[in-house]
Amino acid sequence: MKKIKKAIIPAAGLGTRFLPATKAMPKEMLPILDRPTIEYIVEEAIESGIEEIIIVTGKGKRAIEDHFDRNFELEDNLMKKGNFELLNKINQSSKVEIYYIRQKEAKGLGHAIWCARKFIGNEPFAVLLGDDIVQAETPCLKQLIDQYNKTEMSIIGVQKVSEEETQRYGIIDPHSIEGRTYQVNTFVEKPALGTAPSNIAIMGRYILTPQIFKILEKQEIGKNGEIQLTDAIQKLNEIQPVFAYEFEGNRYDVGEKLGFVKTTIDMALKNDEMKDELLKYLVEKLEKISRNYIS
Ligand code: G1P
Repeated sequence: MKKIKKAIIPAAGLGTRFLPATKAMPKEMLPILDRPTIEYIVEEAIESGIEEIIIVTGKGKRAIEDHFDRNFELEDNLMKKGNFELLNKINQSSKVEIYYIRQKEAKGLGHAIWCARKFIGNEPFAVLLGDDIVQAETPCLKQLIDQYNKTEMSIIGVQKVSEEETQRYGIIDPHSIEGRTYQVNTFVEKPALGTAPSNIAIMGRYILTPQIFKILEKQEIGKNGEIQLTDAIQKLNEIQPVFAYEFEGNRYDVGEKLGFVKTTIDMALKNDEMKDELLKYLVEKLEKISRNYIS
């Protein structure tokens, strides 16, 4: 059996939802507390047993490479000050090999994955999207890898969303369910409101067999004028089963502003140094708002 050792993290998106913050800074570098969002994704990959990561970047994404590079001057400075805790924090990603490739044109997620084909070769691999951060006892990707190890077939991470949200996601039309695993009739990218075949949405974690690359090579332009990964997955599902797995854990949408704020609050409430003060602040704030609301 081929072990899942490699992962693709697409990070070429323009980050328009966060402009002007993302005019000169990649959206993947926006921090949640003291860590850029992409570090949470890389950490999940490491904890799931991934050995090599390829990040698909684009224009203006140099800061990502710098972030995962060693900074000897900074390390030396922290060493001299005896700040080993911070030293350890800044070198977390040294536990995995990270490579980079550029997507030269913004042609969509499917195209970004296709750009990494030479790095992946003929093995099954993982994809982690940076807009979805998952906090779970067993890392989300590890849950999918465990399922893959049973079937050796592609498997996509899903969770249920509200009816109104279905138009923002890839949605599955489930055929049957066993435990948390669905057999899938069809995968549809962002169906128009009221037309979704279910409320079970694709959540930015995928295990795919390398056959997907042949399909992506010929994949026509889909939703929003982009080459969609979901469309290629649907075609793959026609030649070999692609399962969906409803993973356990809290999923945060850091790809839009409100989701980002909620994630920041949740992470801060889990942080020993800040949780008490923050909670006090939030309670005071809430009391003030409700007093004004009543009066
Ligand atoms: C992408 C995928 C979509 C998936 C979503 C999860 O969309 O195309 O199928 O449901 O990520 O976050 P995007 O949000 O990049 O438009």
